Amino acid sequence: MQTFHYLNSELYCEDVPVSRLAADFGTPLWVYSKRALLTQLEQIQEAFAAANPIICYSVKANGNLGVLRVMQQAGSSFDVVSGGELYRVKQAGADTTKVVFAGVGKTDDEIRFALESKILMFDVESEAELDAIGHCAAEMGVVAPVALRLNPDIDAKTHAKTTTGKKGNKFGMDSERVHELANKVLKNPNLDLCGIHMHLGSPILTTEPYELSAKKAVGIVADLRTQGHQIRYLNLGGGFGINYRGNEAPLAKDFAAVIVPACKEMNCQLVLEPGRFIAGNSAILVSQVVFTKMEGGKKFVIQDAGMNDLVRPAMYDSFHRVWPVKPAVLPPEDFEAEIPGCEPVDVVGPVCESSDYFAKGRFLPPMVRGDLLAIFSAGAYGTSMSSNYNARPRAVELMVDGGAVEVVRRRETYADLVAHELPE
Ligand code: LLP
Repeated sequence: MQTFHYLNSELYCEDVPVSRLAADFGTPLWVYSKRALLTQLEQIQEAFAAANPIICYSVKANGNLGVLRVMQQAGSSFDVVSGGELYRVKQAGADTTKVVFAGVGKTDDEIRFALESKILMFDVESEAELDAIGHCAAEMGVVAPVALRLNPDIDAKTHAKTTTGKKGNKFGMDSERVHELANKVLKNPNLDLCGIHMHLGSPILTTEPYELSAKKAVGIVADLRTQGHQIRYLNLGGGFGINYRGNEAPLAKDFAAVIVPACKEMNCQLVLEPGRFIAGNSAILVSQVVFTKMEGGKKFVIQDAGMNDLVRPAMYDSFHRVWPVKPAVLPPEDFEAEIPGCEPVDVVGPVCESSDYFAKGRFLPPMVRGDLLAIFSAGAYGTSMSSNYNARPRAVELMVDGGAVEVVRRRETYADLVAHELPE
């Protein structure tokens, strides 16, 4: 069964015409394909099977309970970066003993919440955090499982705002300090150093950075074991790139080919934290054209989704395919090319910021007021980064499963916008 596809000049999500969803639920509107979520998870599970992986879906990509439930039921675990995300996965019914917890600024309350939840391990990002976890664990009379998050100083060639594994950014600890830190753990009976963690950035479109980090881990794990630590886990984070434009991303099996051998050599269980790879192409944002106008020699298509819904183009200049839901011209192979029968337009939103756009100078079939547009690859870092900027209620989110449609988040109302500001 297909996920998002055009049939008889109309966009479908699985068996449901997207125009019907827009008519029933209004726009802007998020549409998830359950099939797409499951297919992506299965691809990772299968590609990495030889390393007996613990797949921890990265909740920050999309923490909707509907999405988390699908993941949980399909055997995924979770990567969280806050007490709030841990709460979300608990609400989704997750087994917290397989949850990993990263983040540079964990508070004592968050650490205690994670210890009470008996998570699999903390990805520790500083010496001070190691002390704080040790302290909380001692108070609670437990042993905290920790993995040292190392900064391997590898350039994953992502956008400057999403690179994490280069020296000089705030994540992890310099890998040269690993022994000093590990020694500290040896002296603390409330800490168990059970793993190594590295996350290089996102999205990563080549396999080399993973190959380099896995190789680096082999030496470090061997040394730590000699030091007396029982290292059981190698966590190589997330970051696997996806196809936003065409076919630019490697396949899961390509990433596995450079990671699995190192993992076997170390005899470690592999932990992965994919977010975008699972959620990215599992949802679209559907909008409706409000107006069009010609100004300054340009055509603007003004539609009702904005940067408050999907901030990625404004924040990272990121590319999302945009195409009508009922197009006169079928979608091209290359969305960046000049397309016969189409005209160059800027697709913009209603928010009062020049950065509120989804596409610039993009060739689209002629659009008129009332037409529906689909903004593709919007499932990761879409709703999870959305806001109420310009007092815009957050859009409704739908999960499609075959011919069935479930509301997994209702559209916010104007009353919701002020609810927390009114006296109790
Ligand atoms: N693990 C760690 C420690 C991370 O920091 C991240 C992402 C992930 C896993 C998941 O990465 P993924 O598999 O989703 O690429 N808002 C940006 C992306 C920020 C990524 C932050 N960390 C965007 O929209 O492109």
